[in-house]
Amino acid sequence: MDKNLIIPNHIAIIMDGNGRWAKERGKIRLEGHRAGAASLEKILRYAGEIGVKYLTVYAFSTENWKRPQKEVNGLMDLFGKYLDKEKKNLKKQGVKLVVTGEKENISPKLLKKIEDTQKFLEDCEKITFNIAFNYGGRREIVSAVNKILSENETKKIEKITEEEFSKYMYRPEIPDPELVIRTSGEFRISNFLLWEIAYSEFYITDVFWPDFGENELDKAILSFNKRDRRYGGLNVK
Ligand code: IPE
Ligand code: IPE
Ligand code: MG
Repeated sequence: MDKNLIIPNHIAIIMDGNGRWAKERGKIRLEGHRAGAASLEKILRYAGEIGVKYLTVYAFSTENWKRPQKEVNGLMDLFGKYLDKEKKNLKKQGVKLVVTGEKENISPKLLKKIEDTQKFLEDCEKITFNIAFNYGGRREIVSAVNKILSENETKKIEKITEEEFSKYMYRPEIPDPELVIRTSGEFRISNFLLWEIAYSEFYITDVFWPDFGENELDKAILSFNKRDRRYGGLNVK
């Protein structure tokens, strides 16, 4: 990694293409998800090393419940196993764990495991690892509105600014991502971080998530460094 490059403070990744990766190899889809988990271990470690402060990954969307029960169960199971296996490594790497999304329909056993892992890692502060799990961007916005409505019963809210609204989102403490990466060549957002990506830079690669390694992250960061971020204004050079 070139020392002169700006490292985004917050990178968000849509980890896509596990199923196609598996299919190409004549394997079952779950093998692709396992390979994807291994890829995530590598990328998280590397992100911490190069100075990324927040890494958000899309692991399970509110729409992924539509998949066959067997695959859904496999993904739930894999998440639990990932936490068991990685817990100690995460601590060594200074990883603070945040899991963002709805708790609804997640087994109490998995919720407990998440909570225990978060406790175990609570003093870590090198990098915040935010796993979007049972997450939907629209759900998040609606949940913010509902929080406002329920507060409104006690204190009359008549008008709200963007800044105030942000405080009702799931993770107001996490800054918006500067860079969003999607693997497997799909040009869509699939209900990921709708509010937070208002001015994020996008990087889309054809590489399937299980093949996304350190080099690929370097390429994404290099591309990010070439962007002219104008935020609607003019950059006179
Ligand atoms: C991404 O890989 C992982 C999840 C959505 C959980 P996919 O499972 O979507 O893989 P493709 O898109 O079918 O190849
Ligand atoms: C987005 O991928 C969700 C995750 C990566 C967890 P999907 O594979 O579910 O999205 P679509 O179906 O291509 O929009
Ligand atoms: Mg997909």
